[in-house]
Amino acid sequence: MGFNIAVAGKGGTGKTTVTGLMIRHLVKKNEGRVLAVDADANMNLNEVLGLSVHQTIGQIREGLGAVPAGMTKDAYINYRTQECLIEGGGYDLICMGRPEGPGCYCYANTLCKKYVDEMADNYKYVVLDNEAGMEHLSRRTTHNMDVVFAVTDSSVRGIQAAGRIRDLITELKLRIGKIVLVINRVPGGVLEDATKREIEKLGMELGGVIPTDPNVYEYDLEGKATFLLPDDSPAVKAVSEMLEKYLG
Ligand SMILES: Nc1ncnc2c1ncn2[C@@H]1O[C@H](COP(=O)(O)OP(=O)(O)OP(=O)(O)O)[C@@H](O)[C@H]1O
Ligand SMILES: [Mg+2]
Repeated sequence: MGFNIAVAGKGGTGKTTVTGLMIRHLVKKNEGRVLAVDADANMNLNEVLGLSVHQTIGQIREGLGAVPAGMTKDAYINYRTQECLIEGGGYDLICMGRPEGPGCYCYANTLCKKYVDEMADNYKYVVLDNEAGMEHLSRRTTHNMDVVFAVTDSSVRGIQAAGRIRDLITELKLRIGKIVLVINRVPGGVLEDATKREIEKLGMELGGVIPTDPNVYEYDLEGKATFLLPDDSPAVKAVSEMLEKYLG
């Protein structure tokens, strides 16, 4: 069994950045295959990683065409999903994306979940980036996870959103080993007393504190992948240290 990780949290708090840096850490460690999953319909994990996406799972339905003779529809869909796999240097990426035009994302979501469930055993690590909010929990895209990192900034609302994510995981009885809080974009990496009090009130394990990293901003501005940040960049160091604590 591999080790499965997901991120969750309020919009714009740094989920994708933290996911990208966790993938970076696992790739550099070079201890086994890594599957990166972009389960956000509004995908951008590939940009953080520095990869271009030729096809997403969401696009399969439109382009499915006739099922070739001698193949079941299921096998054909599996084959087409496999085609969406993108090879990064030392890891694979698969993107859920979305279907074209109007319509709901359920089908893409179901295919993505099925693919990850089936493929998880072929990888030492699966790292899943989610969209903001909690739908990925009610849809059970985030399940069978060893650790869920609930990412927030220092804001009270962000911390409370992480608390609601924890509560929903409990309520839905999702198979999740651990859910921990990650406070991201913390100036100087030092939490304010008020933030500490809010965390204490919430009663969640504090997984890590990720400092505001000017290099993250600079790379973003220059269109460079966050994945390429140097080892000694403050956010890179903090994410690596945090993840190491939780790896089985
Ligand atoms: N530690 C950090 N230091 C500096 N900037 C950061 C840090 N973490 C994230 N950012 C910046 O904050 C912005 C939002 O980050 P990101 O896209 O990772 O958030 P998100 O939670 O994935 O957003 P969404 O909810 O839209 O998916 C980005 O511009 C990113 O570069
Ligand atoms: Mg994101």
